[in-house]
Amino acid sequence: MEVFERIKDVRQRVAEVKETGGTIGFVPTMGALHDGHLSLVRRAREECDLVVVSIFVNPTQFGPAEDYERYPRDLAGDEAKCQRVGCDIIFAPTVEEMYPKGFGTCVQVQGLSEKWEGVARPGHFRGVTTIVLKLFNIVRPSYAYFGMKDYQQLKIIQKMVRDLDLDIEIVPCPTVREPDGLAMSSRNEYLSSEERAAATILFQALELARDRVQAGERDAQALTGLLREFIGSEPLAQIDYIAFADPETLDPVEWIDSDVVLLVAVRIGQVRLIDNTLIAPGVGTPKGRSR
Ligand code: PAF
Repeated sequence: MEVFERIKDVRQRVAEVKETGGTIGFVPTMGALHDGHLSLVRRAREECDLVVVSIFVNPTQFGPAEDYERYPRDLAGDEAKCQRVGCDIIFAPTVEEMYPKGFGTCVQVQGLSEKWEGVARPGHFRGVTTIVLKLFNIVRPSYAYFGMKDYQQLKIIQKMVRDLDLDIEIVPCPTVREPDGLAMSSRNEYLSSEERAAATILFQALELARDRVQAGERDAQALTGLLREFIGSEPLAQIDYIAFADPETLDPVEWIDSDVVLLVAVRIGQVRLIDNTLIAPGVGTPKGRSR
């Protein structure tokens, strides 16, 4: 496995593989790798000739009051993990390499970037799409692997790829969970043991909603009320949003008569966590429309 800091070195290795017709699989990350990230690398390993993982804590996707400085960084640990799952190249550039003096371009996927996480974290997705497009141009992947844990990010990247005709297939990969259901996230490291126990409320809420929809409840407002009450019963939890939304547009839905994504953002103590699940209403008998 090779570790590169410079754009020109990655470009050169990628060009060598592309010249021989090889496929490039790319996993963009901000490091502090956990089993969720590693599942993406494993999938890329199975499907591609050259596997590139980028590790870059991207300053432009953090708000001024967010955790950029504090974000966990462990390049040595990440290298060992990547090596174990068969990564070929780690690209770990410096901030100066990615944003040299005078850098002045940004990429914004309008509409999708302004909802949900976009409201809570203004400018976040502009930072994400700018860095991801830049990484795509450096790595020139055939396939890029994204976790469904960051569902809105995944949809925004897919839209950017479509809108800009990028010749890259985005591969969505399932959320990897701890045994008690908590979605893996580098930010879970911030949770105290008490908060860690409380954080399972997110997954339990997703399961509760899924059960109720499958039992015939179709009214998104009624379901949201139920989830508010359920999550509200956890003293450490503060709800940011709960949304039943169209899985592509992420517009809220009122009545669940086709597939929806349930998005939740909850603060556990000081730690803001997000999670989601896709819910298919299935063929069960719906409860009547009450409004
Ligand atoms: O999901 C992440 O870790 C980041 O948003 C990404 C895609 C690596 C861009 O910095």
